[in-house]
Amino acid sequence: MTGARKMEREKAAVEIGKLRTEIERHNYLYYVKAHPEISDYDFDKLLERLIGLEREFPDLVTPESPSQRVGGQITKEFSSVRHRMPMLSLSNTYSPGEVSDFYRRLEKQLREEGVEEWEMVAELKFDGVAVSLIYRDGLLVQGATRGDGVQGDDITVNLRTIGTIPLRLEPALCAELQGDDREIEVRGEVFMRKDDFERLNEGRTEEDRFANPRNATAGTLKLQDSAEVARRRMTFVAYFLKGIADESTPHYRRLRLLEQLGFFTGGHYRICPDLKAVERFIDEWNEKRWGLPYETDGVVLKLNAVGLWDRIGATSKSPRWAIAYKYPAQQAETELLGVVFQVGRLGTITPVAELEPVRLAGSTVSRSTLHNFDEIERLGVQVHDRVIIEKSGEVIPKVVRVVSEKRTLFSETISVPHECPVCGTPLVKPDGEVSWYCPNSGHCPAQVKGRILHFASRNALDIQNLGESLVAQLVDRGLVGDAGDLYRLTKEQLAGLDRMALKSAQNVLDALEKSKSRSYDRLLFALGIRHVGQSTTRELAGAYPVFDDLRSAGEEELASVPDIGPVVAGSILSFFANPSNQELLRKLQEAGLQFRAAGEQEPVNGNFEGMTVIFTGELERYTRSDASELVRARGGKVTNSVSRKTSLVVAGKDAGSKLEKAGKLGVRVIGEEEFAAMLE
Ligand code: IVH
Repeated sequence: MTGARKMEREKAAVEIGKLRTEIERHNYLYYVKAHPEISDYDFDKLLERLIGLEREFPDLVTPESPSQRVGGQITKEFSSVRHRMPMLSLSNTYSPGEVSDFYRRLEKQLREEGVEEWEMVAELKFDGVAVSLIYRDGLLVQGATRGDGVQGDDITVNLRTIGTIPLRLEPALCAELQGDDREIEVRGEVFMRKDDFERLNEGRTEEDRFANPRNATAGTLKLQDSAEVARRRMTFVAYFLKGIADESTPHYRRLRLLEQLGFFTGGHYRICPDLKAVERFIDEWNEKRWGLPYETDGVVLKLNAVGLWDRIGATSKSPRWAIAYKYPAQQAETELLGVVFQVGRLGTITPVAELEPVRLAGSTVSRSTLHNFDEIERLGVQVHDRVIIEKSGEVIPKVVRVVSEKRTLFSETISVPHECPVCGTPLVKPDGEVSWYCPNSGHCPAQVKGRILHFASRNALDIQNLGESLVAQLVDRGLVGDAGDLYRLTKEQLAGLDRMALKSAQNVLDALEKSKSRSYDRLLFALGIRHVGQSTTRELAGAYPVFDDLRSAGEEELASVPDIGPVVAGSILSFFANPSNQELLRKLQEAGLQFRAAGEQEPVNGNFEGMTVIFTGELERYTRSDASELVRARGGKVTNSVSRKTSLVVAGKDAGSKLEKAGKLGVRVIGEEEFAAMLE
């Protein structure tokens, strides 16, 4: 290493250290405290700077760097690890009576042990997946699932992506707490917040959708691609601190210590000195829990005196010093006022129950899905029936049964519509399927609108400002017949619509313009091919980085791509065979959307062939990494310091010393405009 390089490395090491502390602080403020101090944009800038430096000095990368939270590692198979101490589960109770039985039993046992004064800690029971984290000298070294309680899977790479899992603990406190083995174990639950769960499901086809946050979490923790895990956003809540030197530290105090160490605990736990206090806690949270941003399904009670746990003991599966109380699923009775039939973007007809509004689990419910006609038959439900609706793990309430003794003469059977409620086309029911479909896929306004909304949705091309009412107007007025037509809209056309003015029209046009540069896999997903959800899209984009190759692939070839069976392959082929889809693709290609993966060179453009390029200052249209990627895709190399070998310096806003140096060396300097032109 040259002297100059050594200096640079040392400077980088200092900056990297500062950036890591800074980023983790903001991470903590954002995820644990829910009080961010800086914008997402500024946060991304800090992270990008760190990643840039680490890329330049790869030997400075450490596992606890926040750069590791974005994932990227692929795991073929998770190795199995043995837990330091078995991970027990809890016995569940479902009635207040069982809780008091447990309490009395424990009380008796404590008295026998000569203990007169004691208290319980009541906590919320989080509905997720239990994991154990090991910190050695304050650094996260291992994270594992519960497995069979004795051995679990090492899923450290996936757990690192979770914002509420600190990668390093506060060193001074850690040193004070840990014992001779210098290890601390933290146990808790990984779960998905309701908003993160909804975001995850938003971009999924009916059959790919997760039933509830718990299933989504369990599925995500086992993914082999940690970058995908990072995208999905999960939360870790800590409820056990183990392996600390002072074994007599009470549980309540340990929860406080966990918070000081940087963990999220939810904060809703309380010391209960007697059974009355326990019952009050249970009662109180039965209603209050619906106001939380995550799902809780009960209350966990633990004896506060950890020092007594061993003496109280455990059965083979669960300890005798703790118990879980599960709340019954929340139910309400209401009247079924009618059934409407929704038409999805793929033509599926879904019956939706319209209900007399009723309070349930913290919100007012006036609609609930009936799934399909088999479900209506199974329930035997009729219009004007009194029905019981329920909200348990699922976010959307469902009709669970009819109160048949309350049926009156006024009840009416629900008949399957023969025609599409939107376009009037006779419905069809393919063999072996439970759903009815509207076959008028090309022109049924409901399907056209649904497809366009899917095209614009967050996980697809994420076209801001293109909401339901705007799309409805565009389709109803005949301005747009498919997503391709969006790119032909003029400002005047948009401004002429209800609740639109020149400014909002311009916003829509800007958003459309932005959507043209969204990645190829997003575009593939946006097309809305039946059975092709987000993960299948990624497989497809990987196997066919150039769209034309995908379009010309045969059935057998498609079916050899992982994740793609004959059904999906058939659906892809029929998508391409449909003339209206061919028309749509032509329009999108003409508009200049991304029909090849980034890095897949356009054969015509090698504009940066053999060049060494340097970026300095801030570019407005590109992030540093996108700009570098674009240069590399066109045959160029991107480096960080100006030398005689540099062919080109691209200078953005507030460019500094590199610009000066380029001037001295006589290297060509261009601005962002010229750079954009060179890319074309
Ligand atoms: S303590 C030996 N505390 O519920 C005691 N568990 O039904 C182990 N859970 O396996 C767990 N919230 O996955 C504890 N505040 C909480 C919890 C909690 C959720 C889960 C955990 C456990 C299961 C038992």
